[in-house]
Amino acid sequence: MPVRDLVVMANRLPIDETVSDSGVREWRRSPGGLVSALHPVLRDGGATWIGWAGATGPAPVVPDVDGVRLRAVPLSDDEFENYYEGFANSTLWPLYHDAVEQPVFHRRWWESYQRVNRRFAAVAAQVSPPGSMVWVHDYHLQLVPGMLRGLRPDLCIGFFMHVPFPPPELFKQLPPRAELLRSLLGADLVGFQTTGGAQNFLRLTNQVLGLRVSRSTVAVDDRTVKVGSFPISIDVADIETLARSPEVLARAAKIREDLGQPDRIMLGVDRLDYTKGIEHRLKAYRELLADGRVKVPDTVLVQVAVPSRERVEHYRALRDKVEREVGGLNGEYGRLGVPAVHYLNSSFNRTELAALYRAADVMVVTPLRDGMNLVAKEYVTSRVDHGGALVLSEFAGAAHELKQAFLVNPHDLDALKDSLVRALEADPSETAKRMRAMRRYVREHDVGRWARGYLNALVPQ
Ligand code: G6P
Repeated sequence: MPVRDLVVMANRLPIDETVSDSGVREWRRSPGGLVSALHPVLRDGGATWIGWAGATGPAPVVPDVDGVRLRAVPLSDDEFENYYEGFANSTLWPLYHDAVEQPVFHRRWWESYQRVNRRFAAVAAQVSPPGSMVWVHDYHLQLVPGMLRGLRPDLCIGFFMHVPFPPPELFKQLPPRAELLRSLLGADLVGFQTTGGAQNFLRLTNQVLGLRVSRSTVAVDDRTVKVGSFPISIDVADIETLARSPEVLARAAKIREDLGQPDRIMLGVDRLDYTKGIEHRLKAYRELLADGRVKVPDTVLVQVAVPSRERVEHYRALRDKVEREVGGLNGEYGRLGVPAVHYLNSSFNRTELAALYRAADVMVVTPLRDGMNLVAKEYVTSRVDHGGALVLSEFAGAAHELKQAFLVNPHDLDALKDSLVRALEADPSETAKRMRAMRRYVREHDVGRWARGYLNALVPQ
């Protein structure tokens, strides 16, 4: 279903700049992410994507990807610090994730956030064809719908929040709470990952702005804004094909061999972010080793921690804590050549990730709060053999859909330990049954259905 004249806006463009061994710089489509999600609706439709190219300074000239025209929005060093690291990732990110770290508020961050949102809105106003659809993504760009409506009332504007949307008690801490809510209402449809997020938004518009709301609409000025939940998903066909490939199977076998053919491999794959519950997971593992319920080398943990937002203080502190804990665990429970935790602080390509998923007996996805968590869906989809088990936090959006996972409250250390052991020791017939049910669900709710569902709600066909 290619959509004509769609304009997508997100903080990041769906490309990364790579430098080859011979020093040649080139742009490559980012693996996974939103671009894969939107690929079926963007392709051949003359779509445009507006976003930041990932480095500060003047906007680079960037190539089209898969027929999608890209428009880079520049960010200065100062804006990177105040808009991106500051308001987006030190105010909104922690606040929206249940304040698991203390949100910080500075007026200069908010000023920068407004300035950058205004720039994005101006670019969209300039490039959007008359009457076209503009789909704005995520917490970095919450002021864009209102600003863009002011500039271009002819456009049909959608907004989708990828991260959780917090309950009123938390959101109301934000000094510019009214401006943020009012601007989101510049959209015709405001979408969230879960019904809880949508309900929080409806309650807030009523409480803070005094507007009339129904179960799925807000009346504002002379317009009706639709509000709903649209849980995002993954490209199932693509991941299944990869997971079945001989290359991935061979690599999965090699990974098991390199790990010393343990009975059980547990795997965590996360951005190195304090919302992901990595510390809680390591603590649970340490106690299981101390209790003798789990033993090295029969069982090992592989933790992939992809570097993220590295200059932000909370992230630096987290890295220190995680690495100290990994060191401690290996010092205490590892042996020569057999660490208890294999810790990998780097990005992985899709093939390597798929091989890790195929090699892992227990996938541990235990965020303290997560909008969705696509790693959980990728793992399930990769297990075309119905092998493996998924331990999943109740506080990930995915828990509302992957109900046959070993669901757990990651704050409850004893419960977390028990869930890990249950998943490690479960009968293969039981885990296969759970996996089959989850696979069926994800296959029926893939990313194409998500994008179509959202766009149909925005503009009923
Ligand atoms: C989350 C956000 C995305 C963001 C991604 C990576 O998934 O919802 O909008 O792009 O994290 O974070 P980064 O700060 O590197 O863009």
